[in-house]
Amino acid sequence: DERKAFGAQINTVKDEISAALEAKKADLQNAALDARLATEVLDVSLPVRPEAKGSLHPISQTMEELTAIFGAMGFEVAEGPDVEDDFHNFTALNFPADHPAMELHDTLYLEGGGLLRTHTSPVQVRTLQKYAPPVRILAPGNVYRRDFFDATHSPMFAQIEGLAVDEGINFADLKATLTHFAHRFYGATRRTRFRPSFFPFTEPSAEMDVEVDLGDGRGLRWVEIMGCGLVHPAVLTEAGVDSERYTGWAVGMGPARMAQSGYGVRD
Ligand code: DAH
Repeated sequence: DERKAFGAQINTVKDEISAALEAKKADLQNAALDARLATEVLDVSLPVRPEAKGSLHPISQTMEELTAIFGAMGFEVAEGPDVEDDFHNFTALNFPADHPAMELHDTLYLEGGGLLRTHTSPVQVRTLQKYAPPVRILAPGNVYRRDFFDATHSPMFAQIEGLAVDEGINFADLKATLTHFAHRFYGATRRTRFRPSFFPFTEPSAEMDVEVDLGDGRGLRWVEIMGCGLVHPAVLTEAGVDSERYTGWAVGMGPARMAQSGYGVRD
């Protein structure tokens, strides 16, 4: 009996000690919080740090996005000079001398020889002269034409050339790659189409359109975003590539058009 009574007494003391401990713990926590609140004062009157304003131009953003999409498919960035010669800009690309297509390009010729490249296609030739196939490149850059500024013309604008040369490349490769690209850039459900066209440096040649709604109330319509085709054997030969063994496809893209159609820029 004595033992039982003593046990009950001990339990009472134990409870009292526990309660006292809990109370002390809560006191200490409150005191710590009060101390922190007292020291961590936020001075909301401090001026904010200067923030970067603006962003990359939509055309630059488009070019970066394009390079990333093609880069993921194994394409490397290549470059060529803005000041070109007749050979790389025209002759090696299978433009016959006195061909009207040369006049279409309204070339800016420089005093003392040379010209401002009218397209990025000469980078095809320069790359093939330098590297043996397989070759997969993307060549972004500025091109120049003797045009006045208006809503659809500019004496300087950007292009992106694409080129793939390897054994056994055919039109199916071109179509699959460019369609995949369009679906990555515009969205997987976007409709695309290829129309027959003509360029001296490709055979067959095509134009690729994408269906867009610019949100201007005119609804869906087809917009041409690139010229493309299988590299003409004469171009491969001129650049020193065995055109019996190798074939290729090429594309010339207009980033301004793509920025407009991709980001819904109305005008
Ligand atoms: N060079 C052409 C132009 O500026 C665009 C082009 C069309 C490039 C078809 C290509 C191509 O590589 O295959 O008008």
